[in-house]
Amino acid sequence: MRLYIDSADVKQIAHLVEYFPIAGVTTNPSIIVREKRPYLELLKEIREIIGEERELFVQALGESSEEIVQEARFIQEQLPGVTIVKIPVTEEAIKAVKVLTKEQIPVLGTAIYTPLQALIAAEAGAKYVAPYVNRIDNLSGNGVKVVEDIAKLFSIYNLKTEILAASFKNIQQVLDVCLAGAQTVTLPPDLIAKMVSYPATANDIEDFKTKWAGQFGADQAVLGNYAKV
Ligand code: E4P
Repeated sequence: MRLYIDSADVKQIAHLVEYFPIAGVTTNPSIIVREKRPYLELLKEIREIIGEERELFVQALGESSEEIVQEARFIQEQLPGVTIVKIPVTEEAIKAVKVLTKEQIPVLGTAIYTPLQALIAAEAGAKYVAPYVNRIDNLSGNGVKVVEDIAKLFSIYNLKTEILAASFKNIQQVLDVCLAGAQTVTLPPDLIAKMVSYPATANDIEDFKTKWAGQFGADQAVLGNYAKV
């Protein structure tokens, strides 16, 4: 599973890139406006923080295929490194994906609610598809089942397109989509932290430390000090 940060908060991105195995950063218009900064300056700073090899996802806003293609070319020119253009899957978007694929501009089909949207985007050449797990659940659908069906379809038709599952509200949803076949997930910073923070683990650490200090003393609490004994 590859892990992406679903945020444009540069402080949190810098922290998470240092601590976690991060494959890149995904943004969308709502995430960018939250930062209240000129968008290009913000995206360039994110690129600087993550380096040129990690993927940066930027969403096009145009409605017609021509507008989308123009935006995608602009995004590619402005942001060096591995930059992927996100396009909400509509009929115009599918036409744009075909054009951009010919130009070797990588695309992610986003705002996906059904397996067939994902299948068509993949057949048109999208490198990734992003099903919106929690938003599907909120429509009384089953986000995990949608991911599972997309994975099945991609396997039946031997498609190389990867699933970048998005829109999560808890880490059980994350575990479920990983088991359902999503190769990658994008998570808000608080959920990334929750993947490894578990109260029982913190309690165990305290218990180990107390027992160790009881025998060797509090100043022998790390291995380097222990070696000097
Ligand atoms: C991915 O980039 C999506 O835009 C994002 O995960 C949507 O998440 P939300 O449903 O929490 O807004």
